[in-house]
Amino acid sequence: MCGIIGYIGKQKASPILLNGLQRLEYRGYDSAGLAVLEKGQFNALKRTGRVENLRKPVLAADSQARLGISHTRWATHGGVTEANAHPHVSWDGRLALVHNGVIENYKAIKRELEAKGIEFKSETDSEALVNLIAYFYNLELKESGKSHKQALLQALRTALYQVEGTYGIGIMCTDLPEHMIGARKGSPLVIGVGKGENLLASDVTAFAGRTQNVVYLSDGQIAYLSEEDFEITNIDAETVSPHIDTISWDIEDAELGAYPHYMLKEIFEQPMAIENAMRGRFSQDGSTAQFGGLNIDPRELRQIDRILFLGCGTAWHSCLVAEYLIEKYARIPVEVEYASEFRYRNAPLDKNTLVFTVSQSGETIDTLEAQREAKRKGYRVLGITNVVGSTIARENDGGIYQHSGPEIGVASTKAFTAQVHIAAMLALYLGRMRDMSFSEGIQIVNALKKAPGMVAQVLNQTEHIKEIAERFAEKSDYLFLGRQAMFPIALEGALKLKEVSYIHAEGYPAAEMKHGPIALISPECPTVAFAMKSEIFQKSLANVQEIRARKGPVIAITDAGKDFPADLADAVIEIPEAHEVVQPVLASIPVQLLAYYTALARNCDVDKPRNLAKSVTVE
Ligand code: AGP
Repeated sequence: MCGIIGYIGKQKASPILLNGLQRLEYRGYDSAGLAVLEKGQFNALKRTGRVENLRKPVLAADSQARLGISHTRWATHGGVTEANAHPHVSWDGRLALVHNGVIENYKAIKRELEAKGIEFKSETDSEALVNLIAYFYNLELKESGKSHKQALLQALRTALYQVEGTYGIGIMCTDLPEHMIGARKGSPLVIGVGKGENLLASDVTAFAGRTQNVVYLSDGQIAYLSEEDFEITNIDAETVSPHIDTISWDIEDAELGAYPHYMLKEIFEQPMAIENAMRGRFSQDGSTAQFGGLNIDPRELRQIDRILFLGCGTAWHSCLVAEYLIEKYARIPVEVEYASEFRYRNAPLDKNTLVFTVSQSGETIDTLEAQREAKRKGYRVLGITNVVGSTIARENDGGIYQHSGPEIGVASTKAFTAQVHIAAMLALYLGRMRDMSFSEGIQIVNALKKAPGMVAQVLNQTEHIKEIAERFAEKSDYLFLGRQAMFPIALEGALKLKEVSYIHAEGYPAAEMKHGPIALISPECPTVAFAMKSEIFQKSLANVQEIRARKGPVIAITDAGKDFPADLADAVIEIPEAHEVVQPVLASIPVQLLAYYTALARNCDVDKPRNLAKSVTVE
């Protein structure tokens, strides 16, 4: 939430910052702002709304400055106004700051500073932070005779000791025109190490096209950057030796290419994302999966008698699929909990419990804190994450990278199906360690390998799904019903539709409909019903009948082919008949496309839905 990027180098800073901001915009898009340091003073421009609104005035100003910081905001404290947009300049004009995170005790800090005569111009928590640092900086300069660098770093440390909450910050100081400072606690911050230039950002996507060499900062670290160099210290002023990572994806992976929206691009990237999730992950005899990064001895894994999955939003839905598949195929009891609930609930866990956190971004604060809580209690925590080097990935005991490539659309699509596919592979892996036979293992491996081709088959129906979406786009409510592993897909379908089209939608286990949601059924409330061939196929059909009897329009998603009675639904989307472990992935594609085309028909901004941000790094 909120994206920050800073630049120091030989080039003009403003265009580089604008491009970086554009790439970070999925983190928040309430307002955008940029400040450069030139001739001893800050020149700042801010606009409410999108980065695009900032582009014109910034380019018109044509600043020659080689140092700047910028920010795209997801509003937390204070409304969406230019005054509340970042960067914030300290009352004395000496410091400029961009901030991602929340300063929880900002009111107390603000009160104390106001009592000393310091005036505030915004309603934000971030301005309290910049004024606090500036306050200590002035004291340091007066009292100690230190250099500007020493005084500022000391002031920063003193201030950071006082603040409660989370921050990823970038700072410029008029006294240090050749330097930029960053610090983090609880919000991500990465250094981009370039040639004759260095960058600072909340996410590596901001560096696309400039550098693939990055240093992930850890909580409590402070970075001091010049164009040729950087140094990292911790909050106690001890030097930290940096580890430079190289990011593996290319600039094109984060570009739209020929697609109108990232959401559509990412939906169509799913065959590849699923292929990547499987690459090198099947045993030589083809009967099980293997995961290089779990860092857990198979004998130890064999002792596990319970698994707890933690995640938020769409990732939580993939955890639910994992529950169905692992319990069925590995016979290990699985529990799924919202990370936000787990972290404060003090749930009793058995000593043989293995914890999995699932997160596309690897930065979701609730998932990260839930992981920390589980680790604090001594549990082994593994992760399923997409973003390599993210905080969750770095802090857990091991895990599985999704390799889905950058996901930019706020609505998660390819990351979800990759997580679901990995859950199926995990069910196979754990199952083969227990009672699953060699031949069943072979069968499941073969089924999993066919998934990318089958996903492509579903994608071939895009035009058909688009037509259905447009037919029902004016409705104001939707129900999604599914049984067993289709229940999480029903939840996911409802979430996707809500997120991007703003239609009220609810997902339910199909049989639960009769216990309340059936009251919603009317010609104005379509139902998306999953009817998969299985031992309970007839039960699913019976639920569809009940909706039809009440004049509710039905969009059926089925793998039953001719066995699905054609007159039972207003629209039918057929998916290929597949092994049960692949069904959840295949059934996800139509609901993603349905949400996408419904949003388009309603003129919604699919990649940047209102009020949302891709990476939820505040509580
Ligand atoms: C998905 O469409 C949502 N934007 C959201 O629910 C998301 O899945 C959730 O915030 C968790 O994100 P993470 O996977 O990056 O942790």
